[in-house]
Amino acid sequence: MLLPNWAGIELLKNSRLELFAQICQTGQTLGGFMAITIIGAGYVGLITGVGLAKLGHQVNIVDTDPTKIEKLNSWQPPIYELGLNDLLQDNEVQKRLHFSGSLDARKFDSDIYFIAVGTPTKINGRGADVSYVEMAAEQIANVCPPKSIIVLKSTVPVGTNDKLQKQLDTAFYDKKIAVISNPEFLKEGAAVFDFFNPDRIVLGGKDSEALRKIGHLYQGLNRPGAAPLKLLAVDWQSAELIKYGSNALLAVRLSFINEMAAICENSNADIIEVAKGIGQDSRIGAQFLNAGPGWGGVMLPKRH
Ligand SMILES: NC(=O)c1ccc[n+]([C@@H]2O[C@H](COP(=O)([O-])OP(=O)(O)OC[C@H]3O[C@@H](n4cnc5c(N)ncnc54)[C@H](O)[C@@H]3O)[C@@H](O)[C@H]2O)c1
Repeated sequence: MLLPNWAGIELLKNSRLELFAQICQTGQTLGGFMAITIIGAGYVGLITGVGLAKLGHQVNIVDTDPTKIEKLNSWQPPIYELGLNDLLQDNEVQKRLHFSGSLDARKFDSDIYFIAVGTPTKINGRGADVSYVEMAAEQIANVCPPKSIIVLKSTVPVGTNDKLQKQLDTAFYDKKIAVISNPEFLKEGAAVFDFFNPDRIVLGGKDSEALRKIGHLYQGLNRPGAAPLKLLAVDWQSAELIKYGSNALLAVRLSFINEMAAICENSNADIIEVAKGIGQDSRIGAQFLNAGPGWGGVMLPKRH
């Protein structure tokens, strides 16, 4: 299969990743659709898996929660997301999508493994608990074929991908596993739309061949009528910080407009009109400028 002309590719750092961009732009054969295993059937893992299956890949989603797997095996979504049920009822998707309760490499032959498990805030409130990520990586490394790629979708503190690569290089030296960071930016409620229409896809890593392969996975998003795919290939730490920086900036905008709402109340001004007036400035934009009682959710409050 030929790669399309990825006009949208942007490289934040282009030295060692030039090869990646050149190959993507000249359209080199990479062997078509791929077999992917995803650990974690939560918001991120499930939407990514269903989306990749819709793009034509064979996807096995593994989750330790038996209730989720039972529902998914009868094509019932365990969460509500607009468009998810339709995708799960799609015959083509059903042919390419599998669910299992444990990672059994003998049943599903793949060399690309996504980790999409939770990274909750530690009980002491200081940083993220990455133990589920480490556990999933070890489970993968125990069963994967040599030269597999582990793609970290979970939101992790800066340095985690680097550390994980070192741990795998030490404990599973012969396997030569490559770690790629691929942070997730979906909005709950619009997650399916966001998968098929990402503002950008961020890939972080050192191994240009692995980066190229993972970039290739998403090529189906570059379809007629859609905005050209923007693929940012960077180092691990930059990818991790793009995710945290984006979350932090969104939180700052919400805090700012809530402060403005308080000022409006004291000044007899109308916060709705004020937000509209500020947001119409093209340098600022209107998103995340709706005043509310505060902000929350699972992602923005994370202080890793
Ligand atoms: N939900 C969001 O809006 C969102 C957006 C962007 C990034 N993220 C990040 O993505 C990651 C996943 O988030 P989520 O909301 O999908 O989490 P989630 O808690 O909904 O799902 C995680 C799933 O992983 C499963 N799991 C954990 N360890 C496992 C293992 N070893 N093997 C198999 N299954 C395992 C759990 O049973 C659970 O179903 C987190 O780091 C989160 O911060 C979430």
